[in-house]
Amino acid sequence: MITLALSKGRIFDEIMPLLAAAGIEVLEDPEKSRKLILATNQPDVRVVLVRASDVPTYVQYGGADMGVCGKDTLIEHSAEWGGAARAGLFLPLDLRIARCRVSVAVRSDFDYEHAVRQGARLRVASKYTAIARDFFATKGVHVDMIKLYGSMELAPLTGLADAIVDLVSTGNTLKANHLVEVERIMDISSHLVVNQAALKLKQAPLRRIIDAFASAIPPAEGG
Ligand code: PRP
Repeated sequence: MITLALSKGRIFDEIMPLLAAAGIEVLEDPEKSRKLILATNQPDVRVVLVRASDVPTYVQYGGADMGVCGKDTLIEHSAEWGGAARAGLFLPLDLRIARCRVSVAVRSDFDYEHAVRQGARLRVASKYTAIARDFFATKGVHVDMIKLYGSMELAPLTGLADAIVDLVSTGNTLKANHLVEVERIMDISSHLVVNQAALKLKQAPLRRIIDAFASAIPPAEGG
């Protein structure tokens, strides 16, 4: 049995064409079912639905053989484990799906440039503390990190933080909350993550899926 860990929403929707290239069709719609294990048209392939941030954990401990998650999630998980390889994770492919970016955002009435120039200590709220710490350290800005697990946009609005580090896609969430993007930290896309031990034990079926995904990756922007 091959178990693939996915999260509902954008990643699930955008991985479908890649699964189709591997001849895999998920037999249930996660938006309509409460089931967490979904069968596919291939009796030896199943999908487990997990939180995006749990995908590397499931793959690391063998709860899934492979999974799909954003580079943001992988960086945070790797920071915790001293690298993806040390967590037993193999990252063969950038799937170039579910693309967005990680950015710094502040209230529109907060003068971020001025605060940085003055060498002010910034209070930064984020789910992505490793990415945020690294970014501000490289920039030479002192920060107090506040770890949040969601609704980060609220932090600057309630006075919890001066800035947030969050995913931005259309920018609509920021706009709706009167926040502005002041720095673009990195571009994000989803990657395939594979359990290294499973790759040895189930080499042929996993390689077949990896190769099929590779053949169906959307072209790079502008290319
Ligand atoms: C992400 C992110 C923002 C939003 C940005 O949240 O945290 O809130 O998407 O998208 P936009 O720029 O298109 O408005 P997501 O919906 O992935 O859920 P989360 O809060 O669980 O991270």
